[in-house]
Amino acid sequence: MTSLEWAMTYFRQNIEKAKGYEPGFQPKQADVLKLNTNENPYPPSTEVMEVLAQIKSEQLRRYPDPLGDQFRRAAAQVHGLSPDNILCCNGGDELLTMAFRAFCDENRPVAYPVPTYSLYPVLANLQSCKAIEVPFDSEFNLPPKLAVTGAALTIVCNPNAPSGTFIDVGELASFADELEGILLIDEAYVDFADDNCINLVKEFDNVIILRSMSKGYGLAGLRFGYAIASPPLIAGLLKLKDSYNVNAIAIALAAEAIKDQKYFKQNVEKVKRDRDILTEQLRALNFNVAKSSANFVLAESKNRRAKEIYENLLRRNIFIRYFDLPGLDNKLRITVGTSEQNDKLVLTLKEIVSDKGASNGRQKS
Ligand SMILES: Cc1ncc(COP(=O)(O)O)c(C=O)c1O
Repeated sequence: MTSLEWAMTYFRQNIEKAKGYEPGFQPKQADVLKLNTNENPYPPSTEVMEVLAQIKSEQLRRYPDPLGDQFRRAAAQVHGLSPDNILCCNGGDELLTMAFRAFCDENRPVAYPVPTYSLYPVLANLQSCKAIEVPFDSEFNLPPKLAVTGAALTIVCNPNAPSGTFIDVGELASFADELEGILLIDEAYVDFADDNCINLVKEFDNVIILRSMSKGYGLAGLRFGYAIASPPLIAGLLKLKDSYNVNAIAIALAAEAIKDQKYFKQNVEKVKRDRDILTEQLRALNFNVAKSSANFVLAESKNRRAKEIYENLLRRNIFIRYFDLPGLDNKLRITVGTSEQNDKLVLTLKEIVSDKGASNGRQKS
């Protein structure tokens, strides 16, 4: 027995057996084109950086506000809700962990359509709850069977990752109405969509919306996300959150960022415009690309293997995401960068797909 195997015997059995979540690769070098983990290509605003520069040592000596009220007030104002509808989290991922702890156990399963965010099954395993995975159809429509799983928690990622597809808000409203358990709508990418489900929290007491400051606001390194739900659901979630789950710097910076809707919208509009251009450019290079409502696209070459393209790009220091997973076979997820970054990617792809030397990966059609 190796020392790792020995150490693992101290852990709960499902942890011992778990592989753990594998985050997208974070290269150490600066001179790479990084389009693999859906960060915003634009930095936070100068106002946010000014708040950072003005952090006082006293703010670090003391514990932060346990509820992050400065952010809750700012977010409530932006969304036309009350601060009681908002719960601050250490990234949207923390809200997912909290939801599994709150609603799921051995007798209370989770359900979600697949393929989707690969963290959900990892959290289900950690919580020892059954995961009911209901396959999407080829167009990523909401599967009707998802409404009748009997799960305590149903998660719908909208826009879905990694397809970028969007389920109509009216359809999710009917779905929430039909469902007996909690519906968590993971809107980590919704800043890049044309609609969102916020209004459902006013209508349904079983809906929780997940929001992230990592994508639209360019603050992935800060680790800040939040829940939007009815006040009683937020009060329930508060019972299980860590006392000081968001730090003083994160609260101050996230509050400043969400107040500056003008800067946020400017960047989001640039990404949306460039996403649509990138989609057309990839289609012209013989890729199938679904219409995306996120800041990434899911692409499949009609005549090259995804793995071959991914590895070829990697050799040229261009990072995109390749998933060797069911339902995503032969697909590549590409984060939308700046126009210049997207042009560089498209030029390189053009070389790769026209490179006779790499044609041994070509599929028979
Ligand atoms: C679908 C989805 N949900 C939630 C998150 C969590 O985001 P964060 O923890 O950075 O706020 C991510 C991050 O990539 C995601 O892809």
